[in-house]
Amino acid sequence: MITKGRPWLQKQIKKIEETNSNFKDDIKKIKDTEADIFNEFNHWTPLKLTFLNFTLDVCAIVANKRFEKKNYIDLFAGSGINKTKGKYNDFLIGSPFIALLNHSKKFTQFFFCESNTTFCDVLKKRVNVLGLNANFYSTNYEYKLDEILNEIAKDKKSYNFFFIDPYGLEFSWHCMKKILNIRSDVLITFMTRNIWRSVKTDEATGNGHNALNRLFGDDSWKKANIEEDLIKIYKNNILKERSDAVILSTKIKSTKNFHYEMIFITHKTEGDNPWLNPIRQAKEEIENNTDEVVESLLDIIKKRQTTLC
Ligand SMILES: C[S@@+](CC[C@H](N)C(=O)[O-])C[C@H]1O[C@@H](n2cnc3c(N)ncnc32)[C@H](O)[C@@H]1O
Repeated sequence: MITKGRPWLQKQIKKIEETNSNFKDDIKKIKDTEADIFNEFNHWTPLKLTFLNFTLDVCAIVANKRFEKKNYIDLFAGSGINKTKGKYNDFLIGSPFIALLNHSKKFTQFFFCESNTTFCDVLKKRVNVLGLNANFYSTNYEYKLDEILNEIAKDKKSYNFFFIDPYGLEFSWHCMKKILNIRSDVLITFMTRNIWRSVKTDEATGNGHNALNRLFGDDSWKKANIEEDLIKIYKNNILKERSDAVILSTKIKSTKNFHYEMIFITHKTEGDNPWLNPIRQAKEEIENNTDEVVESLLDIIKKRQTTLC
């Protein structure tokens, strides 16, 4: 049975999947550039990427009415191409090309930071092969954030969208504070399950309690009695830094006892941000789905099966 959310999701995944995208010729070119370099993804990742694609669309359309200059800043950019883990090789464009291809006409400047030098070099080659322009920073985002902020501050009336997509607990609160204190929209991946594991285990791997202090800016995470408290505490910390913040979190769910949240942060606007309604609807659609549905939808999209299991 096709339930709510699935036709919507199928349509959204097609917009970023190599063989169905409106940009399939461009995607072929970038995929053929250093064809063996890509980020690998689990089947919940397309939920995140479709939410980014959708959110960018809404934000850029709204910003278009008020701002001439619009910056897209991606601090954990990856290689530009994502490939599924598992038996099939399904390719989706990564966040840099979601912005560069699907939203090229809406944004005027692009900033990509990626600490893996191979990924960053390949991303640069892929952007160049399409004759597009972007600023690349092949290093830890912490070393370059000030430079990026200075660059975007040159135009006081620019619109700024930050995508912050770490694997785990890498994004430090002192950088978050800088971003919250300029006029910006932010979409950040909050790895709830990994963070909770760090609370419980104080891992020696670098994901221990020190990493939590860095992520939250203090030891407020210690107030979490259950996993669900973590995002409430993080949101509260955001509100302390940006008092007019409007925060919407969307749960990305796996059937493998794993989940995380995408937190979207904007500024309060008149009438309770009515322009956010499409993003609120997208949240519902995303939360009605899981990695298993994505896997079946990719089978349908790639014509390996005709109906959902
Ligand atoms: C989840 S992946 C990002 C995927 C990408 N946003 C996409 O949608 O295709 C995280 C990326 O961040 C990079 N990374 C990890 N730590 C980093 C850091 N401190 N600064 C910049 N990039 C980092 C990793 O090499 C990896 O490619």
